Amino acid sequence: MSKKSQIVIISNRLPVARVRRGGSSEWRTSPGGLVSALTPILSKRPSRWIGWAGTSGSAPEPFEHEGILNHPVRLSREEMETYYEGFCNRTLWPLYHDAVRTPEYRRRWWRPYVEVNRRFAEAAADTVAKRGTVWVHDYHLQLVPAMIRELRPDVRIGFFLHIPFPPQELFAQLPWRQPILAGLLGADVVGFQTRGGAQNFSRLCRRYVAAEGTREELHYEGRTILPGAYPVSIDVERFEQLAKTESVRRRTEEFRKRLGADRKIILGVDRMDYTKGIDIRLHAYRGLLRTERTTLEESVLVQVAVPSRERVEQYGELRAHVEQLVGEINGEFGELGRTPIHYLHRSLPTEELVALYRAADVMLVTPLRDGMNLVAKEYVASRDDTGVLVLSEFTGSAKELHSALLVNPHDIDGLEAALHTALHMPPGEQEDRMKSLHRALRRNDVFHWANRFLDALKV
Ligand code: F6P
Repeated sequence: MSKKSQIVIISNRLPVARVRRGGSSEWRTSPGGLVSALTPILSKRPSRWIGWAGTSGSAPEPFEHEGILNHPVRLSREEMETYYEGFCNRTLWPLYHDAVRTPEYRRRWWRPYVEVNRRFAEAAADTVAKRGTVWVHDYHLQLVPAMIRELRPDVRIGFFLHIPFPPQELFAQLPWRQPILAGLLGADVVGFQTRGGAQNFSRLCRRYVAAEGTREELHYEGRTILPGAYPVSIDVERFEQLAKTESVRRRTEEFRKRLGADRKIILGVDRMDYTKGIDIRLHAYRGLLRTERTTLEESVLVQVAVPSRERVEQYGELRAHVEQLVGEINGEFGELGRTPIHYLHRSLPTEELVALYRAADVMLVTPLRDGMNLVAKEYVASRDDTGVLVLSEFTGSAKELHSALLVNPHDIDGLEAALHTALHMPPGEQEDRMKSLHRALRRNDVFHWANRFLDALKV
């Protein structure tokens, strides 16, 4: 375990989670494209993944799982409250998502954010090989690049932000805007989901930390930093393959039968997060039912909401609100044995999701703001040549998936109209749009994304 790693990945969470099985527990790889994209790269040379194991208290020793050396970092119970729930998810998360909830600026959360970032940086500095590479991920760890640079000026450092990077009008509110920008500038390459994010970052660096240069190239403290757009994606082929399996085909049929073979299925799949616009799409569906532009016989809405950050107040409030709305709509329009909305508050295995994507005539993706939104991409990858994607223009995905029905989620009338159009779209138009969506997806899968970023970092 003392061997140094040529590549070190750092993210808040490790790519594995501990799951209970009977009386004991075991590590299981978490779903998501990041692990599959990086596994081929990591398995070619000595490498490790540094992250939090998901529970408070002392961290387990580094361990290998499915070819990846996992290096857990400890977080105390108090740090979970101050660093993770507080600074990450009550300050940065809402601020970076257009302040759709009011960001809270609490001074007592800042110090733990710095301390936890230092712990991650030290773990990387201690284990990375001479002139090796460190790739830091996401908003939890924005100070880490500069901290590593100070400890290990010999290494290449990349940073990728998975969520949006806000414009000056919002970012300027942050009392710690300077150290955060200086932290990110410790990297050689700073990646964002969109060009807009890279542009916001460059402008802010020129304005607040006296960096010079352009959106593509900044100069700061005698070094060159390359900001850029690297839109993240999914393992497209894996979804295409899964969609073709016999078990998924059977499950799709079963879902269709259970929900009503003659009904159009509308689907939403999200983490239960206030950025995702779950309540907004419920309002839109209710609007269609009220005005009889759809009926209980014609359509059904399935909403899967994956439990998330439940100890953070705003998330509990959202869940209560969504569940109340579902209850109201089912109470108003349902009949015995038939309801307009089927609501699942749990995560589903990928196979089940793919079967649902296959069953869904319309996919509703309506975030108020989203760095990318991979659910939209998963839906497209799982479809053949029909199905309609209704997609918020405030997602990173909308920059690639132009042929979706793009909507402004703040405009409920517009959303109702788009949902109505989606329910009645002729198969020919569905095919044209879906073909173009498939082309867009194939241009940039998650392997292409990872290789592009690492090429820029010259790994
Ligand atoms: O997309 C942003 C993100 O923070 C990811 O890094 C993470 O996998 C996901 O949201 C879930 O959030 P959390 O790790 O807080 O449960």
